[in-house]
Amino acid sequence: MVVSFRVALLALLFAPCVRADEAQDATIFETIQRIDGFDLSQASDKIKGAVNRVLKAKLGEPDYFEAVRRFQVTDQSPELLALAVEKGGSAEGAEAAKLLLDFGQDAMLKEALADKDEPTVAALMASLVASNHAKGVALVVPFVTDEAAGAATHRAAVTALGFGREGEQSLLELAKSKKLPEALHVAASAVFLKSSDPTLREEAAKVIAMPTAAGSAPLPPVAELAKRNGDAANGKTVFQRICFTCHQVGDIGINFGPALSEIGSKLPKDALFTAILDPSAGISFGFEGYEMKLKDGTTLVGFISSETADEVAVSVPGGIVLRHPPGDILERKKLPVSLMPQGLQAGMTEEELVDLVEFLAGLRKPE
Ligand code: HEC
Repeated sequence: MVVSFRVALLALLFAPCVRADEAQDATIFETIQRIDGFDLSQASDKIKGAVNRVLKAKLGEPDYFEAVRRFQVTDQSPELLALAVEKGGSAEGAEAAKLLLDFGQDAMLKEALADKDEPTVAALMASLVASNHAKGVALVVPFVTDEAAGAATHRAAVTALGFGREGEQSLLELAKSKKLPEALHVAASAVFLKSSDPTLREEAAKVIAMPTAAGSAPLPPVAELAKRNGDAANGKTVFQRICFTCHQVGDIGINFGPALSEIGSKLPKDALFTAILDPSAGISFGFEGYEMKLKDGTTLVGFISSETADEVAVSVPGGIVLRHPPGDILERKKLPVSLMPQGLQAGMTEEELVDLVEFLAGLRKPE
């Protein structure tokens, strides 16, 4: 097989008067992808030019990341940095940050983190943590207490650490060793509240005050709540505050738990309340959580999105899919509880909970 592709490639290279049009570029791109061990750095300018044009057209698509990784296109670093910022904390942003870390672009990342624009820095930090790369988390952690940075940056760093398990773990370590300033405890509690790892939530509750139900009075029974009408527009803002890190509605939110774009057609109000107040009461098929110990000493918590003889794909919070050969996984344990955290209602008032369900109930299949 490989030989015939090589022949095809040679034919292309020596074809007289080839035009550098899109079809031609695409053919070159496809051909080199099929050649085992193809070394782009040794290729002709013509091939490099074609690859660059194709990458430009595919910027941010799965093919793009795959090709940049495979051919080690370090020239794409500025584009990767822009993606890590623009798609802060999403699967694409994480992939871009991971490549930059793998390429050893630490200096470039440090310079970008010193940018004066807060939202830029916050987005980049989220992507670095979401990459689940130990170096990414290590770049963000110092900003939690950096005296040269302002309060907004401290808070952004804490929030960013909530974008990956390694990040949450580091934040917990800071809190345990009393290095987390008091002023950041509220931001940190929001991170732990949303964490899909029950052990981590328990540990966190021992060292920082987790918020109790904003109204603190016990909630009425679900049957009663389900009879009330709320303000859907306000419910949407509650969703964007607490639920979007794991669920998509239309084009807002991160794709980790099931998409909720049509949840109102699937679940009546009482079931929606139960889904929020007691996530483990019914775990959606295909979203059962696992804890996996890997050969490299790390632990993953997520659900298995696909599994074949040579690859296990694990979806982890943040909407990222980590792929490992089955041999990398030393141990897997099915979690008895949902990956959706229990107790999210603690971050909202009773009224806001009713508004949130009103919003969800209105998300319906187009008639
Ligand atoms: C840390 C991630 C996470 C957060 C935060 C989260 N969820 Fe979930 N959610 C999940 C996962 C994973 C599932 C699937 C497992 C299950 O059914 O328990 C799920 C399931 C659900 C379901 C059932 C979906 C179905 O198709 O049956 C609803 C409804 C839901 N979540 C609503 C919410 C709402 C509302 C919020 C915000 C208050 C929220 N979730 C916050 C991860 C999360």
